[in-house]
Amino acid sequence: MESDNYSNDQKYWDGYWDENRNKKTFFNSLVAFARKRYFAKYFAKFIAKNYDVKNKTVCEIGAGSGLTLAYLREMGALKCVGADYSKEAVDFAKSSNNACDFIQGDAFNLSNIPDKNFDLVYSLGFLEHYGKDDQRKLINEQKRIAKECVFIEVPYDIFMFRWLFAANRKLGRTTTFSDEELFTKKTFEDLGLKGESKLMPGAFFLTIGHFERLSQ
Ligand SMILES: C[S@@+](CC[C@H](N)C(=O)[O-])C[C@H]1O[C@@H](n2cnc3c(N)ncnc32)[C@H](O)[C@@H]1O
Repeated sequence: MESDNYSNDQKYWDGYWDENRNKKTFFNSLVAFARKRYFAKYFAKFIAKNYDVKNKTVCEIGAGSGLTLAYLREMGALKCVGADYSKEAVDFAKSSNNACDFIQGDAFNLSNIPDKNFDLVYSLGFLEHYGKDDQRKLINEQKRIAKECVFIEVPYDIFMFRWLFAANRKLGRTTTFSDEELFTKKTFEDLGLKGESKLMPGAFFLTIGHFERLSQ
């Protein structure tokens, strides 16, 4: 893994999910509510609109709360598995969702998952936490375990994100909402992805999603 200042450290995410789960501050409750009632639902609808999940096997990389997977399962996905290297995230997801499976695993090396094991493999708010070399490795591993399609959602390169991140850095913040990479269609092309990039305007903060259909 590259040593840079992105918030991609396992301990950081363990702390993040532990706090989200156990510290019921007003802010954390608001984030949890928005994640459940808005973001996860929106992401699941967006995915399902572009890829028919009915009777498909689906895996989310860096699944965190696992809430998007839960909605995809409700929409008819046959089997949903979330992989995350944070034990806290896996415990959190398991505690609130028993229609899906959650496993602890490092997205760079999911060697216990065979090639082409899932019809769809996707990630949300994940790739932007890594530098270029790592992004390429992560995409290769995501593609290796996918049979039909990979989907990647990341923040879009737009002024409001640039301003927010810059303001946060000025205030001394060094992790989420300050250090992520912002993407455009070209960023995906530069990473060697050949599919279709689509803006995701309903995600409140504008994000961009990229679908790549794989030849089987
Ligand atoms: C911004 S969160 C995304 C959460 C999730 N998509 C959701 O909707 O709740 C990024 C997640 O990626 C996980 N993660 C980061 N690097 C990872 C890696 N190398 N392997 C597995 N999980 C990773 C973190 O633990 C964290 O849960």
